[in-house]
Amino acid sequence: ILIKVHAQPGFQANYDESKVPPYTLPDVLTTTTNVPIRTKAAWEKVRRPEIIKLFEENVYGQMPKSYDRLTYSIAHKNTSAMTGKATLKEVTIEVVNHNKPIQIHLVLFLPNQRKKPAPLFLLINNRGKDNMDPTRAHKSDFWPAEMVIDSGYAVAAFHVSDLAPDDTAKYVNGVLQLYPEQLTANDGMKAIGAWAWGASRVLDYLEKDADIDAKKVAVVGHSRGGKASLWAAAEDPRFALCVTNCSGNTGAALSHRRFGETIGRINTVFPHWFANNYKKYNTNEDALPLDQHMLLAAIAPRPLYVTNASKDLWADPTGTFLSAKYAEKVYALYGLTSNLPTNPPAINQPITLPPIGYHNREGEHNLTAYDWRNFIQFATIYYKQRK
Ligand code: GCU
Repeated sequence: ILIKVHAQPGFQANYDESKVPPYTLPDVLTTTTNVPIRTKAAWEKVRRPEIIKLFEENVYGQMPKSYDRLTYSIAHKNTSAMTGKATLKEVTIEVVNHNKPIQIHLVLFLPNQRKKPAPLFLLINNRGKDNMDPTRAHKSDFWPAEMVIDSGYAVAAFHVSDLAPDDTAKYVNGVLQLYPEQLTANDGMKAIGAWAWGASRVLDYLEKDADIDAKKVAVVGHSRGGKASLWAAAEDPRFALCVTNCSGNTGAALSHRRFGETIGRINTVFPHWFANNYKKYNTNEDALPLDQHMLLAAIAPRPLYVTNASKDLWADPTGTFLSAKYAEKVYALYGLTSNLPTNPPAINQPITLPPIGYHNREGEHNLTAYDWRNFIQFATIYYKQRK
């Protein structure tokens, strides 16, 4: 069934490990001019900026670094939300550039039982808005806000449509109106870049919210949202932790390995996600001067949690695990020893020890309470180590 759903003329998905063609990945610790990187200093000064630039030019597009104005207002507040254990803030964040505004509608819950500003999990919500219902009449494991609050964290979410509607015809009606030069450039950002940009604008707000410990903000995304959470964390070092759930192709999975979704398929079905330049690689993965392990590495030394689901072969669990493995060397430059096993762990065997967490959950492509429980455990271990 999976193969049928995803069949697309010209881009036949491969689900046969023996049919993965041989490939060579660019080494994360060798520059494009073949200079080996051996120190943290050289990584930060030379290779990491080069990698970010490679992703901007070839994949996600430029990330606008400035805007004219950011203001916010609390549209609604309830200090006795979730039967009294949380405070709800519905925050309208307005960003203006070139006299054009966009508004991000943030739903934020704070644990009422806390002595200090709260660490926070921020979800980039790419699914129904009902998943982030502020009234909690509708509850969903996609964003299990009660569970996160019970674990002592604040929890927030915004919807991707506030930044760029997830639609080939309509994606320009959002952030791209503020940065018209992005629309015509071949390395201009599109929807995924806009969602990641939005996560950083929420962080701009969170830095001003005295209830939040803005040095402990984890950015979380599922699938297309998980592609955006990776890009947000790579571009914006203020994010303390990154979670990428079932993010697959152009998320955490390797592109050179042709298994499941391919670049050609993703660019054909979702032409509004990535920069025009990315389309050059539609049938030519081997020409890519990068692969997704380099994006994961760009998040180091900050902790990163990566997931798969056992039935989600479209997102290539093996290629995702390998990608995390190849990022290990950069964590090692910081003296951080990865706890990932040599081979992909069995289903439902989470590795929740920083710096790189991983699990392959039994079941379908989704974001579930099981996934969140592991993110929380991973973050809690990390913050305990850090202080
Ligand atoms: C499609 C797409 C994936 C994406 C997924 C999702 O399956 O091909 O790349 O991750 O949708 O966002 O759920």
